[in-house]
Amino acid sequence: MRLSIIGAGYVGLVSGAAFAEFGHDVIIMDIDRERIAKLQRGIVPIHEPGLDRLLDKNSDRISYTSNMEEAVREADIHFICVWTPPLEDGSADLSAVRAVARELGKQFVKLKVKTPIIVTKSTVPVGTGVAIQRLVRQSYKGDFSVVSNPEFLRESQAVADMLRPDRIVVGSNDPDAAKTIAGVYHDVNAPIIMTDLATAEMIKYAANAFLATKISFINEVANICEIVGADVERVAEGIGHDPRIGKAFLKAGMGYGGSCFPKDVRALHQFSNASGYDFKLLKSVIEVNEQQRQMIVDKVNKHLKILNGKNILVLGLAFKAHTDDVRESGALDIIERLQIQGANITAFDPLALLNAKKKLNDLVILVGNAHEGAVGADAIIVATEWPDFKELDWERIQSVMRKPLIIDGRNLLDPSEMRKLKFIYEGVGR
Ligand SMILES: NC(=O)c1ccc[n+]([C@@H]2O[C@H](COP(=O)([O-])OP(=O)(O)OC[C@H]3O[C@@H](n4cnc5c(N)ncnc54)[C@H](O)[C@@H]3O)[C@@H](O)[C@H]2O)c1
Repeated sequence: MRLSIIGAGYVGLVSGAAFAEFGHDVIIMDIDRERIAKLQRGIVPIHEPGLDRLLDKNSDRISYTSNMEEAVREADIHFICVWTPPLEDGSADLSAVRAVARELGKQFVKLKVKTPIIVTKSTVPVGTGVAIQRLVRQSYKGDFSVVSNPEFLRESQAVADMLRPDRIVVGSNDPDAAKTIAGVYHDVNAPIIMTDLATAEMIKYAANAFLATKISFINEVANICEIVGADVERVAEGIGHDPRIGKAFLKAGMGYGGSCFPKDVRALHQFSNASGYDFKLLKSVIEVNEQQRQMIVDKVNKHLKILNGKNILVLGLAFKAHTDDVRESGALDIIERLQIQGANITAFDPLALLNAKKKLNDLVILVGNAHEGAVGADAIIVATEWPDFKELDWERIQSVMRKPLIIDGRNLLDPSEMRKLKFIYEGVGR
C-alpha cells in the first residue's frame, strides 16, 4: 500500500519505519523543514532505540517531504500523527489536526484523488474523526473515509511496540475503510479490535487514564505506608502477583509525566466535563500526581529547613529512563519548585541534557556526570529511574557532598545499602 505519515515525531517516525518494514511504500511529511532536511540526510532527530536502524534498513521504501501536495500524490492512505498538546483548560489543542484535515481536503481536490482514507494516529478526543470529515468535506466533495487507529507505543521501546503491538484498534463508521486499515498490519500477530470511530477514540483515553490511575493509586498507598510504617515496594509486590491487578504500573514515586499521561488524563477529564459528566476519579488522579511532586520538595525541606543558598543535585531530567524526552517531566517541575525557594540546582541526565537545556533557566548548572554535580551538594534528588544511577560510586559521592542526603523520587536505590554508606536516605513509601 502507499501510505503518507503526516507529522515526523515519535509516533510518525516509528509508525513510518514500521509500515515500511511491513512492506508498504511510505512518505513522511512534516511542516518542520529542518527536521525533514535532517531525515533526508539520514539524521534521525529523536532518540528512540532501534529507530535509525529500521529507517535505514527500509530507506528504499521511505521518502521525506515538507510538501503536502507531494505526500498526497504519493499515497492513498494518510496517517495524521501530528501533536495534540494541552491547552490552558486541559483540552487537546487540535489546531494542527484541523490544519492537516483542511490541507488534505484542498489537495484531494487539486490532485483529483479517488477514495482516499484519512487515519488519526494522534490522540484526539471523541468527535474529532467526525470533525475531520466535516473539514475535508468543506473543499472535497468526493468519497473518502476517516478511520481512528490510536497508537499505544511507549517511548524508549516504541520500535518494538510498533512491530509487535499487544493489540491494534481500528475504528470507523465505514467498515470497508476499517478493513483496509486493518490490512496495513497484515503481518502483525496481534488481536485487532474493530469498532466505530467514537469508541476507538475513547479506547486511547481510557487506556492512558487507567494507567495513570494505577500510578496515583500506588502513590496514595505509598503515602499511607509512610505514616503507618509499611513498605510500599513489598505491598506492590504482594498485590502485583494477583493477575487481576498485575505488576505493571505499581511503582510508587514522584508521579507520572511525559508527553501523554498528564495531557490525556486532563483532556479526558475536560471533555467529560464538557459533555456534562463529572469524572470525579480522574480529578483525584490529577491531584495526587501534583501532590507527589510537592512531596519530594517537602522531604527536602524537612531535612534542609531553609533552601535558600543550598546546593541540590537533581539526577535525571527525562520524564522516564531510556529517553531524551523532557516533556512534562517531574524533574523540571521539582527544579522550578526548589528554585522558588532559592536553592542552587545542578543537574545531570545521561541522555536528556540537550532537551532540558531548552526548557530550564540559565541558573541551573548542567553537568556531564553525577560525581561532578555532587561536589558540595546538600542533597541529591533521584528524579529519573535511570539504571545507571544504581551503579554510581556512591561511596565517593558521599565523600564529596556537604550533607549526605538522598531523596529517591523513584525508589531506585537500596535504602539499607545507602544507609550503610552513611547517607540520610528517603524514598517514597518505604
Ligand atoms: N509520544 C508518545 O509516546 C505517543 C504515544 C501514543 C500516542 N501519541 C500521540 O501521537 C501524537 C503525536 O505525538 P508525538 O509524540 O509523535 O509528537 P511530536 O511532538 O514528537 O511530533 C509531532 C510532529 O508533528 C509535526 N507537525 C505539527 N503540525 C503539523 C502540520 N500541520 N503538518 C505536518 N506536521 C506537523 C511537528 O513538526 C512534529 O514533528 C500526539 O497526539 C500524541 O498524544 C504519542
